[in-house]
Amino acid sequence: MVALTGAGVSAESGVPTFRGPEGLWRSFRPSELATPEAFRRDPALVWEWYDWRRQQIAACQPNPAHQVLAEMERAIPDFTLITQNVDGLHQAAGSRKVLELHGNIWRVRCTACGWKGEDRRVPLPEIPPRCRCGGLLRPDVIWFGEALPSKVLEAAWTAASRCQVMLVIGTSAVVQPAASLPIVAKRNGAYLIEVNPAETPITPFADEHLRGPAGKVLPRWWARHLPAE
Ligand code: OAD
Repeated sequence: MVALTGAGVSAESGVPTFRGPEGLWRSFRPSELATPEAFRRDPALVWEWYDWRRQQIAACQPNPAHQVLAEMERAIPDFTLITQNVDGLHQAAGSRKVLELHGNIWRVRCTACGWKGEDRRVPLPEIPPRCRCGGLLRPDVIWFGEALPSKVLEAAWTAASRCQVMLVIGTSAVVQPAASLPIVAKRNGAYLIEVNPAETPITPFADEHLRGPAGKVLPRWWARHLPAE
């Protein structure tokens, strides 16, 4: 079993989504904040935006959808959680194995020496933050135009092509390559369940559409499908 999550799974925790009426991309331009060019042009501006998002996320707790996904990992022997989210809320809910396709907002990476580490300070004391080597640090997330971490993508692709059931939760399914994973699963015979209050490009391929907020509908679905003791 595979679960693929997007920003919608964290919406009920208070983390803004990207698209839709309240989405971040309504008020901010990705080209100015989430590309390597934007960072080269104005690292302080990009970091201010990430620092603001980190502060928002720091105030958020996992919701019942995150919790149920952590339970699924414990109950199902072959379960893979793939997320496009960078907020770390799956791990905060207790998920141990999370394939993070777009990185993690709590990790930083040095643009000079390549050092990577966690930095959970909010707000950051210095913007833009610097590495011990003096180099500029960047958030360890994937920006538009950047390749996904190849090992993570490979693992996600393998899991998608081998799964019997895939839950697609809270993603608008428009950002590639993540958006292809449900199609890969479906083509290989998986049963596809979409959890989303809205329709998406995945809806026509889904065997079931649980229409509603993930924090409500996922726990109900799980209660009906709990594996026998
Ligand atoms: P989007 O913001 O594009 O889509 C959020 C989806 O969640 C929409 O389909 C909503 O209908 C749905 N949704 C909203 N509230 C929900 C709820 N309570 N329960 C379930 N679903 C809900 O977010 P993503 O698809 O994750 O990339 O966006 C993909 C990528 O685009 C992000 O990872 C980010 C962004 O640019 C990078 O930063 C690289």
